[in-house]
Amino acid sequence: MSYQYILNNIEYGILTITLNREKQLNALKYDLIQEIGQALETVRNDKTIKGVILTGAGNKAFAAGADIKEFSAFSKEEGENLARKGGDVFNKIEQFNKPVIAAVNGFALGGGCELTMACHMRIASDNAKFGQPEVNLGLIPGYAGTQRLVQLIGKGKALELLMTGDMIGADEAHRLGLVNHVVSQEELLDKCKSIINKIGKKGPLAIAKVIDSVNAYFDKNRDGFNAEIENFGALFGTHDFTEGTTAFMEKRKAAFKGE
Ligand code: CAA
Repeated sequence: MSYQYILNNIEYGILTITLNREKQLNALKYDLIQEIGQALETVRNDKTIKGVILTGAGNKAFAAGADIKEFSAFSKEEGENLARKGGDVFNKIEQFNKPVIAAVNGFALGGGCELTMACHMRIASDNAKFGQPEVNLGLIPGYAGTQRLVQLIGKGKALELLMTGDMIGADEAHRLGLVNHVVSQEELLDKCKSIINKIGKKGPLAIAKVIDSVNAYFDKNRDGFNAEIENFGALFGTHDFTEGTTAFMEKRKAAFKGE
């Protein structure tokens, strides 16, 4: 499959999706977001793929937000449609069955910050900057920034960032729990790959159930405690479970198949 706004690279079982509009600071055009969704679908059922890294082209930006030039003349209906269709892709990332890590290599503002928050983890380079500056445009986040920022850093700090539009650096984002690790730009992709490789040694079905169970906590239509019980039960009887427990008893490393 060929794409206009993203680069897709598969190496050693990891799909790296690079937002590829460097001159526009990887601003998120509608079609770019849809391409991310399409790229994810190509590996969903591919057992050779351990995980996905999302990053931005160049060394200045992950993504400086939704493309302001694209939506500046939108009507109310078009604005809502943009948020819904984009939001569907962000939800797909959050609910993806393999780990998705944002390698945040510079500005992650507005929709860019929201995109990192839809990922399962955020690893930042030390020059990264996060913020939700939509209020400067007379707007609010449209890709669930008001929801996921609260989930990640709590209500008070989220309201401060959302209302002031302030940008914070990587260390502050780390202190607040918005990012998992801060590394140099040179180390950024290797750090993400090493986390995915570690996860890749575990049972893939169990990893998918961890993601689903944690997401259930935040889903008002589901009971997370019950979701965990069901997911726990569903893993019994899988090949991975038999292999994992047998390997433990035989004192050897498990060879999981994702079955
Ligand atoms: N949309 C469209 N184009 C953008 C963009 C965006 N969000 N951010 C940057 N660009 C473009 C600039 O227009 C510029 O293009 P030209 O060279 O063609 O003029 C190019 O990228 C480089 O940007 P700057 O010259 O502004 O670079 P800078 O280093 O001086 O500033 C910046 C960097 C502080 C990130 C600044 O670009 C900026 O403030 N960008 C906008 C950030 C923003 O407001 N994001 C929120 C968008 S709204 C949103 O995301 C809604 C939502 O939740 C769904």
